[in-house]
Amino acid sequence: MANNDFFAIAIDGPSGAGKSTMAKMLAKDLAITYLDTGAMYRAAAVYATRNNIDVNNSAEVIPLLDSLDIGIDYKDGHQTVSLGSDDVTLTIREPWVSMKASDISKIPEVRTKLVDLQRKIASGKNVVMDGRDIGTCVLPDAQVKIYLTASSDARADRRYKELIEKGDKVTYDEVLADIIRRDNNDMNRAVSPLRQAEDAVLLDTSNLNIAQSVQAIKNIVREKIGLCKIEN
Ligand code: DC
Repeated sequence: MANNDFFAIAIDGPSGAGKSTMAKMLAKDLAITYLDTGAMYRAAAVYATRNNIDVNNSAEVIPLLDSLDIGIDYKDGHQTVSLGSDDVTLTIREPWVSMKASDISKIPEVRTKLVDLQRKIASGKNVVMDGRDIGTCVLPDAQVKIYLTASSDARADRRYKELIEKGDKVTYDEVLADIIRRDNNDMNRAVSPLRQAEDAVLLDTSNLNIAQSVQAIKNIVREKIGLCKIEN
């Protein structure tokens, strides 16, 4: 296998398709590193906002990148994210961050910095990474590439339930509008837009529950990297 026998699993797709649920499950099953790359763009957006910088203004964002210090760690198997010494793992999940993360991710210099960091974290180990450009840009040689998607209604429904469970005060219509706006932003930006890599397997989970989606993902991984790595 390429990369000195290490393997990489790339999961891309629009927001709310279940990428992180699937990636976490695979990481646990295979005992490999999981990297949620969206968390980094979220952290960059939080950093800019804390510095009173408009995430759409690249002339303001670019000089800030020198001091952007994103730390990725793992506590009890969960990824934590910090800005300098400040743990922002929970802050980056607040609903206001989503659109700002999508906006800041359009700036090429931001992507260059974060993609470098993502490749560093992935090097020399087995990894499952999720995001928008993993199969097309970050890890083009990944042994397994999955493009995970679902209808916007199905994704909004799942995201709405998740946020309500967490106690966030949102309406279904707000969540759906956010998903549609972010799809549009992420799919139409100039640099590394969200798209299915030519060699990615498409999995549409609109009509699958979590257990069925997990099974479908495991089947794809088993087929690509061999039976011994994954059970059932
Ligand atoms: O996966 P997420 O919803 O946490 O990602 C937040 C935003 O970050 C997403 O709307 C677009 C951007 N992103 C990106 O451009 N490239 C990635 N690999 C991951 C996320």
